[in-house]
Amino acid sequence: MKGYIKEDDIEKVREASDIVNIVTDYLPLKQTGINHVGLCPFHNEKTPSFTVSEPKQFFHCFGCGEGGDVVTFIMKKENLDFPEAVRFLADKAGISLEEAAPRDKEMEEKRSKGYEINRDAARFFYSNLWSGNDPLSYLRKRNIPDKVIKQFGLGYALDSWSSLHDHLRSKGYDDEDIEAVGLIGKRSKGDGYYDKFRNRIIFPIINSKGRILGFGARALDDSMPKYLNSQETYIFNKGNNLYGLNLLNKFSNKDKIILVEGYMDVIALFTQGINYSVASLGTALTERQAKLIKRYGKEVYIAYDSDKAGITATEKAVKILRKQDLEAKIIVLDEFKDPDDFLKAKGRKEFDKKIKEAYKYIDYRIYVNKEKYNIDEIDGKIEFTVEISKDIRELKSPIEKDVYIDKIAKDMNISKDAIKKEVYGNTRKRTEFTREYISNKSQIKPEKTVLPSGDLMAEIDLIKLSLYDREFYDIISEEISLEEFNSKECREIFSIVNALYELSDDIDKSIISEKLRKLENIDIKILDNILNSKMNFLPENIDQIIEDLIYKKKMSKLEARQDFVRERIKSLETKKDKSSEEEERFLEFCLELIELNKKINLNRTEDGR
Ligand code: UTP
Ligand code: MN
Repeated sequence: MKGYIKEDDIEKVREASDIVNIVTDYLPLKQTGINHVGLCPFHNEKTPSFTVSEPKQFFHCFGCGEGGDVVTFIMKKENLDFPEAVRFLADKAGISLEEAAPRDKEMEEKRSKGYEINRDAARFFYSNLWSGNDPLSYLRKRNIPDKVIKQFGLGYALDSWSSLHDHLRSKGYDDEDIEAVGLIGKRSKGDGYYDKFRNRIIFPIINSKGRILGFGARALDDSMPKYLNSQETYIFNKGNNLYGLNLLNKFSNKDKIILVEGYMDVIALFTQGINYSVASLGTALTERQAKLIKRYGKEVYIAYDSDKAGITATEKAVKILRKQDLEAKIIVLDEFKDPDDFLKAKGRKEFDKKIKEAYKYIDYRIYVNKEKYNIDEIDGKIEFTVEISKDIRELKSPIEKDVYIDKIAKDMNISKDAIKKEVYGNTRKRTEFTREYISNKSQIKPEKTVLPSGDLMAEIDLIKLSLYDREFYDIISEEISLEEFNSKECREIFSIVNALYELSDDIDKSIISEKLRKLENIDIKILDNILNSKMNFLPENIDQIIEDLIYKKKMSKLEARQDFVRERIKSLETKKDKSSEEEERFLEFCLELIELNKKINLNRTEDGR
């Protein structure tokens, strides 16, 4: 890890790295008019839709929607983060970046010392493996070929209290440094240290840059604990890493990624030629890990253990991945405990089938709950249906909802109407009116406005378009003012976009994302939606799209108000002893409704809808 790069230096690097030059290092480009085009390196295609603009120093693929500047391109192509990509380009351009601050430098030296110690330890473990009989026969019994042992750098910690410590000392490392990476611990009685890993198979945990962060260590027999792992250290943070990332980075084509629980699952899959799995290191999946996963695979599969803990972990993982806009599918292993067991019993072909047949989350929930409840009994049937109704309620598409309501109705022999009531009934979306009513009652103002989701989607799309092209931004900002954005997030972002366009004609997503992440009280999901997900528009009909979005936004605002006013009228209408103030408000609402109806109808006819 190196320190912070100065803003000026970043600019220098950008200026020195012509996007057309850089991109042609990776793929051939052909000039067509003002732009260069080629086959997109980020998705499979036969006709070129990957466009590079030299004057704008931007790229965009009309096929998959990827886009950005030269730094973004390198980040994606080389799998680097922002500062790493800037350094990469600086190297290429022969620009030397200003040295990191001295304190960072100290930390940097400490880290590289840590990696060095771990590397020497891993070498030692590795060589032990080939000189002992037991560990090697253990691995062979588990069907791991020598080649795979080497690729994963597996090793063996001797049955000794000090062999590793002695070895590392002979290499000249200080006790404190060895202790700091978690390989040795202080003896509780007397002086000195003891080796933490003894008589165990060693699994080095290696990051995508090939650095050894820590170790997992398995007992050769049934002794407890089965696995010992390095403690968290200044170079090892479990929640930031995934086991297997190094090989995935090297071998996988990054289409698919399979998330498993155990070291041995990753290794068994790899042995069978499935080189795109990672393990979440024995902890519940973290958001950082979900972000890593997003970088390494378009389609995400979860193949956790089939026991109860595995099911709970699967459900949690799906939700964490959804925060990254990833909809994972679940591989169901039937009676087998984990992918390793499955492969041992059934082999690669059958596992491939399981990948193909992987469940959507809702189908997985149905599968799991059918096992959980006794659906042959009436009580079980009801419990099952109530449980699944909650899942159906969360489905986004109304069509999908209907399909599943139908399916469960047939399956359980329960009327569709009853399930519909269960799904839509209890927690029907509150109207603005009921919200306000409740909040007045409790004297607490709602913090967020309730946005019809269509409105929010339109706002998000408008911002995406604004970010994409100055021309689009100009059209949009003429049509709609900052205050008209209903969502707080979108308002904040649009104001930043405004400010950036004041300064320059092009804005870079990586800069804007840095700025945005510094804001407080912001819904990260909306940000990610704006910054990361793709645009589904074709550039030809962009004017129409902008017009549609603005129409949609304006209409949904009017309609929301219309709903609110209608509800207000309804409740005042039926109220018996209205105060004179209420009488007055009642009239006002009636007048407003008439105005609103007029406006909405006018919009509709003007628009020919
Ligand atoms: P499992 O108990 O499912 O082990 O734990 P496994 O991966 O199937 O191992 P084998 O096949 O018996 O060798 C799954 C993962 O949970 C973590 C490890 O990362 C393990 O791979 N774990 C498990 C621990 O960290 N400590 C333990 O004591 C057990
Ligand atoms: Mn196992």
